[in-house]
Amino acid sequence: MDQKKRFEELSIKDAPKILTTPPGPKSREILKFQEQNESSAVSYPKGMPMALARGNGATLEDVDGNIFIDCFSGAGVMALGHGHPEVLKAAHEQIDKVTHTLDIPSETRMKLVKALRGILPKELSRIFFGGPTGSDAIEQAIKLAKFNTQRFGIIAFEGAYHGMTSAALAVTSDSGHKDGLGPLVPGVQFIPFPYRYRNPFGCPDDMVDEFAADNLERVLVDSHSGYSKPAAVILEAVQGEGGTIIPKPIFLKRVREITKAHGVLLICDEIQAGLGRTGKMFAFEHAGIVPDIVTISKALGGIGFPISAIAYREELNTMPPGKSIGTFRGNMVAFAAGAAALNWMVEQKVPEYAAELGEKVMKRFREIEKRSKILGEARGIGLMIALEIVEDKKTRKPSPELTKKVRKMAHQRGVMIEVGGHHNNVARLLPPLIITEDLMMKAVDILEGVLGELE
Ligand SMILES: Cc1ncc(COP(=O)(O)O)c(C=O)c1O
Repeated sequence: MDQKKRFEELSIKDAPKILTTPPGPKSREILKFQEQNESSAVSYPKGMPMALARGNGATLEDVDGNIFIDCFSGAGVMALGHGHPEVLKAAHEQIDKVTHTLDIPSETRMKLVKALRGILPKELSRIFFGGPTGSDAIEQAIKLAKFNTQRFGIIAFEGAYHGMTSAALAVTSDSGHKDGLGPLVPGVQFIPFPYRYRNPFGCPDDMVDEFAADNLERVLVDSHSGYSKPAAVILEAVQGEGGTIIPKPIFLKRVREITKAHGVLLICDEIQAGLGRTGKMFAFEHAGIVPDIVTISKALGGIGFPISAIAYREELNTMPPGKSIGTFRGNMVAFAAGAAALNWMVEQKVPEYAAELGEKVMKRFREIEKRSKILGEARGIGLMIALEIVEDKKTRKPSPELTKKVRKMAHQRGVMIEVGGHHNNVARLLPPLIITEDLMMKAVDILEGVLGELE
């Protein structure tokens, strides 16, 4: 069966279908229960009030029978969509065999390692499964960098999001997540990322990538920069939560050269941008570089099973047995689902499909940007797409209020999106990579309508 037909079968074709403006009565009841019983820190239902019933491919149904086009994918997790049949089959088969083995090997574990080795650059010859979340992988990567260099500093970038645990939060830039928590992990320093639309250097906008790389070199070379030689530089090859910031390949190439020249390890966080999202299996491939350590999670569990991994170079494989341990490093169901998902992704050329569809979507959004009074910039790579919303296109004043409205109105019309960015003014689209062109373009039409109405 051809790829187009195969992808069509995964989702509900006639989505979106809104029967009652969300949240409908059943959703309201469940949301009320959640509000009364769960933490005040619960966040996503605030922007997309609904209770979910089931998912098919790039579509999700709530308990009131509304069907949505999912352009959010559970924060980038559901790369192959909801309820993917081959992945489900692998998970079902595994659950009857063995589900928890710590790091004692199994055939299933071997399958996932082989699948990962098959898509990673050959230089990244070692895989380590840490705790189940992306943040765990970040902790693991930082620990490995420190252990190998015997240094403790980390350079991270403004706009970075690496997670919520102690070291991962320390290298995350958003003060909203950090305020009131006191000092986290010492030795972390931030430098500007090449954010062209909000150029932090005052240079010509098309030079921002070179300036950002030069600045990294400067802080490493200048003994009065206040930066001691760090263990590692950590970055997202395409920043996600920071607002889908896409550097030019030259930036990543220069960062690779500079870190290598200074004996500083380069950690590339591929938790969100990796596994096909940007149109390549890993986002760093766009620059033709190979980092020293790569973090992987989100889509790795196939259909949302929590696992994470780091991949790293042979010469960093120095930890003695037991140096880094943990209970949940061997979820066999996640491994089985992950292996099935990765193999299917390769077989069906999912990253290539994401690249092609992403270009078509960006063509539409760039046209909309020209006409729109509030869409400051549309940017995207593969199916990692962002709409930066502003009050005024000349001043570029960010509008978090309008962005919130974009998400709310899109949700009410049956399209789920995320909001992020430095000023919470970036509407972010992370659809499953198997979304059909038809559903994707319906989502674009709906967003175009919403932007038009908000002007
Ligand atoms: C780039 C990146 N790194 C790390 C994380 C943290 O992953 P988790 O939420 O699973 O801890 C995220 C989550 O959004 C992410 O986008």
